[in-house]
Amino acid sequence: MDWGLENRLSRIIKPDTGRTVMLAVDHGYFLGPTTGLENPKKTIEPLLPYADSLMLTRGVLRNSVSAKFAIPIVLRVSGGTSILSPELSNEGITTSIKEAIRLNVCAVALSIFVGSPYEQQTLLALSELVNQANEYGIAVLAVTAVGRDMARDAKYLSLCCRIAAELGAHFVKTYYCEDFKRVVDTCPVPVVIAGGKKIAEKDALQLAYNAVSNGASGVDMGRNIFQSDSPVGMIKAVRAIVHNQASVDEAYRIYEAEKQGKV
Ligand code: 5RP
Repeated sequence: MDWGLENRLSRIIKPDTGRTVMLAVDHGYFLGPTTGLENPKKTIEPLLPYADSLMLTRGVLRNSVSAKFAIPIVLRVSGGTSILSPELSNEGITTSIKEAIRLNVCAVALSIFVGSPYEQQTLLALSELVNQANEYGIAVLAVTAVGRDMARDAKYLSLCCRIAAELGAHFVKTYYCEDFKRVVDTCPVPVVIAGGKKIAEKDALQLAYNAVSNGASGVDMGRNIFQSDSPVGMIKAVRAIVHNQASVDEAYRIYEAEKQGKV
């Protein structure tokens, strides 16, 4: 592997554990000021010391994150739709590679919408992004977006992840599902999971535990961290599971202790 690419990927997926805790705060690119991210700076700042990388758009990066904080950046570079759009899959590339280099990012991220009306457009956009990013050793994260009416099962998600890897993505973000091992085993690049909609803290920790136990390289979690009643407690608890082999109960105690101010 190209030295620069390997170095950038190693800053995200930590070589000592082979895993990563990515903090996803890119939701505003189609959801606007969603719950918990009304003031991104306020939300992000206390979580920075506990995240292995930050996934966000250039707008939030420039305006809400200090350039003096040396956190690896995964820059979302796809978009063009909003929650009000009739078809969410109608995305394109929003940010150039030149801009990504100027922002000193480790990876760029783009959503693919397999089985959706704009499937081809998003898959070709991924391929083009890989062509451009490869020239500079920047990693590409493919996000397997799931249409409203689609089943999030192993058959569908393994199709999405495998296509993303075949087109050149260096790592893939997808959803946890039953028989998740099949998704990981049929994907030749690292797989991280999204947290999805906010659920109870213990359930979110169980999700992270199940994912890494079944081969995920970690999480790229957003709402289940920043919409928690203790975001710092949650990210610390998720870290314990991902990097320190903590059980769900041990991790939950970390969350509770932080929430009660005992830390
Ligand atoms: C949508 C995304 C999200 O914006 C986000 O990164 C998802 O994170 P979470 O589900 O954990 O809130 O990638 O496709």
